[in-house]
Amino acid sequence: MPRLSEKDMQKKMEPIRVNLERSGSDSYEIDIGEGVLDRLSVMIKAQDGVDRCVVITDSGVNSLYGEMVREKLQPAGVPVDLIEIPAGEASKSMGTVLDVARQLIELNVSRKSLLIALGGGVVGDLAGFIASIYKRSVPYVQIATTLVAQVDSSVGGKTGIDLPEGKNLLGTFYQPRAVFIDLSLLRTLSDKDFKNGLAEIIKYGIISDEEMFELLEQERAAVVERQLPVMRILVERSCRIKARIVEMDEQEGGLRRILNFGHTIGHAIEAASDYRLTHGEAVAIGMAAAAKMSYRLDYLDERSCKRIVGVIKQYGLPTEIPGDFNTKAILGFMASDKKAVGARLYFVLIRKIGVPFVTSEVPQSVIIDVIEGLRR
Ligand SMILES: NC(=O)c1ccc[n+]([C@@H]2O[C@H](COP(=O)([O-])OP(=O)(O)OC[C@H]3O[C@@H](n4cnc5c(N)ncnc54)[C@H](O)[C@@H]3O)[C@@H](O)[C@H]2O)c1
Repeated sequence: MPRLSEKDMQKKMEPIRVNLERSGSDSYEIDIGEGVLDRLSVMIKAQDGVDRCVVITDSGVNSLYGEMVREKLQPAGVPVDLIEIPAGEASKSMGTVLDVARQLIELNVSRKSLLIALGGGVVGDLAGFIASIYKRSVPYVQIATTLVAQVDSSVGGKTGIDLPEGKNLLGTFYQPRAVFIDLSLLRTLSDKDFKNGLAEIIKYGIISDEEMFELLEQERAAVVERQLPVMRILVERSCRIKARIVEMDEQEGGLRRILNFGHTIGHAIEAASDYRLTHGEAVAIGMAAAAKMSYRLDYLDERSCKRIVGVIKQYGLPTEIPGDFNTKAILGFMASDKKAVGARLYFVLIRKIGVPFVTSEVPQSVIIDVIEGLRR
């Protein structure tokens, strides 16, 4: 892809429509840009008889953006309440679900009310889950504030919470009425959370968009500085890729599996680190592993494999397994993931950048070799 042209930078963003086949009411728009929150109240007025809005957010996001969102909601002319949960993965729990549900009851939230998830993936997954079960479901919208939420968790309607036994073990598929992605909110995001999102963007490039992959190779400085024109292209293209895949396979029957590129080994490394590595770091190592596996099995040429590892490194994400990890422990976590998906270990590999496929035919010896080869 050529470097960003003036035209690219000024192009107006068209909302992305996610068309789901069950019924028209399951389809919704993802509105991306700066200042998109100005359209929040217009969207609410266009819904049929919304009687109140309840913003669900976390402590970190509330202190930065809670008041601003309240103000944006004023023109909708309905009462607005705000429920704050503590920031962090620990809030994706049954305890928080019950706590928030009781507050909703106290606020007299009815099936005509609208929940607004304001935050990253934690708030989105939790608020979406509550919306899907509170009084047998109420509508909700997502305002995605982290890069992970903007390119991944806010699109696709997967909601859920964690149990002590594992992550995302209780959940539903429940689509929001709309998703708002204000790119200017990325300015306040920590580097760690920004990199978590970048890992997912790199993944979309590898599995589905060679042009975007090239843009990532060429525009490092602009991306790292979070310049809005380039972020707009990356977020828009990532959402489009995820939306198209979700449309074809809403409930993860098959195609949606390609979104797990880098996740088979990535999840195991994340678990083996006892979640010391972030999800983005673990997926980055997992993507390097999947590229190397694709090369080892003669699907991918060496140059493409090197380009993939190069891009991951270029964004300060790891491509090697820390020395204190043992291969056995990683294989053990992969085996327990395998049980969860029906006794087969699936890998997403690639034939070239942009052309993924799913296979359960990777020999154990190759898996071990690749893991050993990635150790520092
Ligand atoms: N539903 C899905 O399809 C899906 C996909 C990917 C991830 N997830 C889930 O998403 C969760 C991770 O989400 P996440 O990475 O967004 O983390 P997160 O929601 O925990 O947010 C990370 C931190 O960033 C802060 N924050 C949020 N927006 C900010 C902003 N604009 N400026 C400054 N700080 C901000 C939050 O307060 C929090 O402390 C996991 O639970 C994961 O399971 C779900």
